Amino acid sequence: MSKNFALILGGSKGIGFEVANQMLAKNYHIILNSRNPLKAYNELRKNYSEDKIILLPGDISEDSTLKNLVDILENINKLDSILINYGGPNIKPFHEITHNEWLSYFKTMFLSPIEIIKNTINYLKNSEYPRIVAITSFTTKKITKNMIVSNSLRLALVNALKTINLELSESFNGKLLINAVAPGYINTERLQDYILKQSKILNISPNDYIKEIEKNILIKRIADVKEIGKFIAFLLSYENTYINNQHIFFDGGIVY
Ligand SMILES: NC(=O)c1ccc[n+]([C@@H]2O[C@H](COP(=O)([O-])OP(=O)(O)OC[C@H]3O[C@@H](n4cnc5c(N)ncnc54)[C@H](OP(=O)(O)O)[C@@H]3O)[C@@H](O)[C@H]2O)c1
Repeated sequence: MSKNFALILGGSKGIGFEVANQMLAKNYHIILNSRNPLKAYNELRKNYSEDKIILLPGDISEDSTLKNLVDILENINKLDSILINYGGPNIKPFHEITHNEWLSYFKTMFLSPIEIIKNTINYLKNSEYPRIVAITSFTTKKITKNMIVSNSLRLALVNALKTINLELSESFNGKLLINAVAPGYINTERLQDYILKQSKILNISPNDYIKEIEKNILIKRIADVKEIGKFIAFLLSYENTYINNQHIFFDGGIVY
């Protein structure tokens, strides 16, 4: 049986790291990306051999990262899955975001994922089960203060992915499945940071802010990262045979 390869962008921490773990558990080889992926690499190497993990260090918005990715793919000549992921934008009011910050977010959160897909199409075509999943955010539905970048750019990416799906479907003979997953509140470093910053801006304690969050989730709790990791790995793998073109909210039922 031929090997399966999953590209995990932003895979050193949080949700991305958990997806990397889950794809390895499904016997995929992974191409592990982040700006500083070494600690995560060493962690994964405790359970998986050297040949299972190819390192792709670098910012996804840098041309050199894309070039190094294409060099790797030239060698293996196949790509099965892409997880589109990166850190979230800074949490601040819209009038404090500079023009250059907007340009940088546009590149990381919108343009680079599209460029990466464009440059990997021919390798995805060599897969029996080509799958793409982008991580977005609940903020695409619940417009959230101090989150204008996330509220807007992520939705643009979802619609771009739907367009790519429509345009590529024919040439992939219907095999390509593209989805987006919008996390609600997932317990990661990023969420801890988000809680601290938002509670400071709102002038309440982090614990009160957490209570406020949980009050508005029907499941009444923040999710463990393993719960979403498993779900995204399912969508990214051959196990998903029919879910396509969806933007799925993994949020425990947030009520607004
Ligand atoms: N956790 C939640 O509750 C929640 C809720 C809604 C939306 N989200 C969104 O879901 C995504 C993942 O969240 P998370 O909680 O797992 O975040 P996280 O713990 O901060 O992890 C982000 C990952 O992306 C990597 N990264 C950041 N910028 C990058 C770049 N320019 N190029 C390559 N890699 C980059 C980071 O590693 P390096 O630092 O090594 O680059 C890290 O591995 C984020 O976009 C976040 O905004 C999360």
